[in-house]
Amino acid sequence: MTIRTLGRTIPAIETSDGAGVRIKRSIGQSQSLRLDPFLMLDEFGSEQAADYIAGFPAHPHRGFETVTYMIEGHLLHEDHLGNRGHLKNGGVQWMTAGRGIIHSEMPQQDEGAMRGFQLWLNLPAQDKMMPAGYRDIQPEDIPRISIPGGSLKLIAGRIQPDGNEHTGAVTGGFTRPLYADVHLEAGGQVTLPVAEELDGLIYLYGGNVSLGNDELHVSAASVLGPGTDVRLKAGPQGARLLLVAGRPIAEPVVQYGPFVMNSREEIEQALQDYRSGVLTA
Ligand code: FE2
Repeated sequence: MTIRTLGRTIPAIETSDGAGVRIKRSIGQSQSLRLDPFLMLDEFGSEQAADYIAGFPAHPHRGFETVTYMIEGHLLHEDHLGNRGHLKNGGVQWMTAGRGIIHSEMPQQDEGAMRGFQLWLNLPAQDKMMPAGYRDIQPEDIPRISIPGGSLKLIAGRIQPDGNEHTGAVTGGFTRPLYADVHLEAGGQVTLPVAEELDGLIYLYGGNVSLGNDELHVSAASVLGPGTDVRLKAGPQGARLLLVAGRPIAEPVVQYGPFVMNSREEIEQALQDYRSGVLTA
């Protein structure tokens, strides 16, 4: 066992996206701040409707996947394939843009709290032009697993916290993503395996936690160093954090807004396809 230590820390910056939704962006705030295979990680969280009410009206994507995890609140996803998905407390939307999707994500509430995360997961060249897909994952379909010092919800991937392998709501794919929402009690300690071949990060969003000897910052991507396991210890208020990891793709990344391809020419093609109405054809 090799314990992973803290690599660099990428504090989230406040920005806005969509039609004016306030978000905190860590990974992806600039193109040099990515963690292959992850392109972007946004946290949204507010009690004020003005911060989220404008939502994300219809917009396109090509070449990657978006994973939206709703902790609290209600969003409606609609796309050109005719999918309609209500994303509510604890639910996940896993959208594969592939060749092209046009979708909207609009709040279904005009007051109260909305809180969650959106992660952009890159696709390798071989899958960038695959047909678009969409999965609505209900909260009850996300396995909840007891671990020493707390529990975790396994959105994606496989993990063996106790000698038994647990399987998340989504598995497989070239990057074999691991995505867990980990809750630790006050002082809770756990050692979790994160396969050596995966690059990963921890995003602390409540309480305090240390990774080995390092205290992690809240609302920051704490990138994991190499190794086989992470050792976490919560502070006196406990901790809530995302553990996200995936196999690096190691290909060139060329991004232009909502299109993420391997070359400038492929971006030009995406723009041309979008303008001429065949992005999703
Ligand atoms: Fe989107």
